[in-house]
Amino acid sequence: MQPRPMQPRRKARNDSDQGLPVTGLFITLEGPEGAGKSTNREYLAERLRAAGIEVVLTREPGGTPLAERIREVLLAPVDEVMNPDTELLLVFAARAQHLAQVIRPALARGAVVLCDRFTDSTYAYQGGGRGLSLERIATLETFVQGDLRPDLTLIFDLPVEVGLARASARGRLDRFELEGRSFFDAVRGAFLKRAEADPAHYVLVDAAQPLTQVQRSLDTLLPRLLELTRG
Ligand SMILES: Nc1ncnc2c1ncn2[C@@H]1O[C@H](COP(=O)(O)OP(=O)(O)O)[C@@H](O)[C@H]1O
Ligand SMILES: [Mg+2]
Repeated sequence: MQPRPMQPRRKARNDSDQGLPVTGLFITLEGPEGAGKSTNREYLAERLRAAGIEVVLTREPGGTPLAERIREVLLAPVDEVMNPDTELLLVFAARAQHLAQVIRPALARGAVVLCDRFTDSTYAYQGGGRGLSLERIATLETFVQGDLRPDLTLIFDLPVEVGLARASARGRLDRFELEGRSFFDAVRGAFLKRAEADPAHYVLVDAAQPLTQVQRSLDTLLPRLLELTRG
């Protein structure tokens, strides 16, 4: 029998894209707790709205009622060690829900989505912090997101102890905030490594500066964002 000629592999159908186009802009804000992601997300939203742009503010894990319930499971300290794979799968389960309900529809409308944490946090916390293999994270990333990646990611970077001090000043610590110094060193290192590896898609923000300084650096970024929304 003649061997069958090699067929090119059919490109895997993307089950996660709902057939929706991506016409908007997907911007994520990343960094540890206390870095100023939430504060500056509001600031950027105001600036973009002032330019007449539809902005959708959201966060991970969470962003929909169901995904927020998964968030509670992820963050609540409990008397049982959460298996790192369980943690990873819950993060992506919440993300699948968030993408389907909020992010993809918003991007299809042409909105700017400003998302407080996304998959870079998975690489930093579950990869860097928990030591899970980056390849497995990448597999789930493609499984859940298809080829959707943020257009731009702002990494709010600051020394570990400054972030921890700001976060603990806020009150009760969640399951991640209870981790030790080496965990947060690894998280920071992972964020920095991702930013360095792909300067076209990452902007590093010095989040240890006073807030007015941080916002001034965001202002310098604004023309680029407005340009991208028109692109
Ligand atoms: N550049 C800054 N300097 C000092 N304090 C800041 C700065 N940015 C944010 N904060 C404060 O730190 C705390 C954490 O900020 P937040 O925006 O909630 O961080 P995140 O969302 O990254 O955890 C808040 O009380 C906020 O007012
Ligand atoms: Mg926050």
